[in-house]
Amino acid sequence: MSHKLYLYPKWIRAWHVLNALLFLILIITGISMQYTDKVTNSFIIGFDWAIALHNFAALVITINYMIFVTGNVMTKNGKHYMINWKTIWKDLFVQFKFYAFGMFKGEKHPFPITEESKFNPLQKFAYVGAMYAGFPVLIITGLGLLFPEINIRGLFGVSGLLMTDILHITVGFFLSIFLVIHLYTCTLGSKPTTLFKGMINGYHESDEH
Ligand code: HEM
Repeated sequence: MSHKLYLYPKWIRAWHVLNALLFLILIITGISMQYTDKVTNSFIIGFDWAIALHNFAALVITINYMIFVTGNVMTKNGKHYMINWKTIWKDLFVQFKFYAFGMFKGEKHPFPITEESKFNPLQKFAYVGAMYAGFPVLIITGLGLLFPEINIRGLFGVSGLLMTDILHITVGFFLSIFLVIHLYTCTLGSKPTTLFKGMINGYHESDEH
């Protein structure tokens, strides 16, 4: 029997669609800047356009990120991001085992989705890592590149600007990997489209229970 839960309030859906679009723009413009051809001054798009678009998208995604954090502090959505450090490693293992084997044998989800807990342990861990570790580092290092004068001069003979740049690119890379895995795990609902529909209409549908 299928059941429905209202898990994605309007504000989280609005935040998410803007975040996803801006994130894609940041990836495309970021890659374009990194691989710009010295002769044509362009890769996917022209270098100057890539910089302008990247800076603009970064500014809007930062404001949007502040809305995400404020919304999670002010509403009960924030409780879904609370990690229980006593059980997390065991829970992660159980969820991983389900994705690796159980899922293919038709076993039931080990952590059924409820209004109290809408993420499974792997989702929660990945979302907390992306939103509360990755994003802040990406924003701070991005600001460091936009305003080079605020960087430390250097450490152990390595330029501060270079370290900031490498950190920015590395975290950007890992968040892009997060996005690929995120898109895949979002196809693992009752049907491949179920979770995407949930993020559009707010209701999570499941065949279990
Ligand atoms: C084309 C891009 C994207 C698509 C299609 C997409 C799809 C989805 C879907 C279907 C859900 C609901 C399923 C679930 O609860 O896990 C979701 C939730 C979520 N996504 Fe994405 N996503 C995209 C990009 C991103 C990006 C770039 C980030 C962050 C870097 C992100 C972070 C999140 C977070 C934190 C949630 C949980 C929100 C909440 O309910 O509190 N997503 N996404």
